[in-house]
Amino acid sequence: MATVSSDLSGRRILLIISGGIAAYKALDLIRRLRDTGADVRCILTSGGAQFITPLSVAALSENKVHTDIFSLTDESEMGHIRLARDCDLVLIAPASANIIGRAAHGLADDLAGTVLLATDKPIMIAPAMNPVMWENKAVQENLGILKKRGYTLLSPGAGDMACGETGTGRLAEVPDIVKAVSAFFLQGGPLKGLKALVTSGPTYEPLDPVRFIGNRSSGKQGHAIAEALALAGAHVTLVAGPVKEPVPRLVHAVHVQTAQEMLDACLKALPVDIAVCAAAVADYRPEETSDTKIKKTGKEPMTVKLVQNPDILATLSQSNRRPKLVIGFAAETNDGLENAKKKLANKGCDWLVLNDVSGGKVFGQDSNIVTLLQKNGAGVSADTWPEKDKKEVARDLVAQIAASFK
Ligand code: CTP
Repeated sequence: MATVSSDLSGRRILLIISGGIAAYKALDLIRRLRDTGADVRCILTSGGAQFITPLSVAALSENKVHTDIFSLTDESEMGHIRLARDCDLVLIAPASANIIGRAAHGLADDLAGTVLLATDKPIMIAPAMNPVMWENKAVQENLGILKKRGYTLLSPGAGDMACGETGTGRLAEVPDIVKAVSAFFLQGGPLKGLKALVTSGPTYEPLDPVRFIGNRSSGKQGHAIAEALALAGAHVTLVAGPVKEPVPRLVHAVHVQTAQEMLDACLKALPVDIAVCAAAVADYRPEETSDTKIKKTGKEPMTVKLVQNPDILATLSQSNRRPKLVIGFAAETNDGLENAKKKLANKGCDWLVLNDVSGGKVFGQDSNIVTLLQKNGAGVSADTWPEKDKKEVARDLVAQIAASFK
């Protein structure tokens, strides 16, 4: 099993840098967060830009810096709503008395304020200001409001201040902020405490010691889902067929070859709260597997008798230890929606992710166009997503899963 480390690879942090002399420390913070593997996107407020330049922030984060809500380019490339949602954590460091007050009162007349209202992600706040300002009742009351709303406060330290005064108000030390962010990811996440099972990749059904019946599934989508679930805090067991795709971090992987082995591994992983069956399981296997390499006989035709494999998705969906949420995939070349609806009903799962695999599309590629079918009451809703990277499909699916467990 992969060990849980404090590394932040794959975590997406939206850093809001507000005004104050401590803004220069945000540059070091970006570097250190990136050293641990995090992807850091930054919003530099107009106050912050008085102290550090967008260019240094962009150079260190290796991402575009967002500065102005009314930038038309930004709004066409990435609107403020997406910016607010496309992250795992919002971190305000340094947070000035001004941004604290504006956040507490829901003011949205700049990008930072708007993003803080539009985000559905956890928010951490690391204040930095003059000690007298820090102790001011207005600031403390505003912070009280934010804490009540679920903001995590990274308290400022005491010591000599840049303004020449001594007291509490120094930005928390950068390594301590990084530690707090790591700790947050290890403990937090919307799926914290939940168990998930993911099947991924193909199965190989052996004919003899050197030959098998298999398919072209790369495991990219299933592995991406396993990683996204783990990053959301779930304890994930990934049952993987033979693939080149590396085991995602934070995930416990069980490697199998055949459909029967995949089913056995899945049943062993129960009980779980969530099951996502993304594997391209072979529907049939040779009735007999030869222990030795099958020789040419010179006779034609050569026939291989196939028998049906167990259906893992249907077995999980109909099990008496059924996961609360069971999600299947449907690879279809024609009449996709119609077939997918039938599959959803026949297999007994709750959601189905439909892929169009006509002409060999999807297998091995990095992007995917999917339709998410969800049972709701007696009906089924179908939502077709625009073409996305498979990792993004995984994140969006996990966001839907998290919402359904709220
Ligand atoms: N599946 C499974 N076990 C099987 C076959 C399929 O768990 N033996 C799961 C897949 O992981 C997927 C869903 O069932 O989540 C649908 O797979 P798909 O290959 O699209 O459909 P099949 O059930 O195999 O039906 P058909 O090949 O006739 O379209």
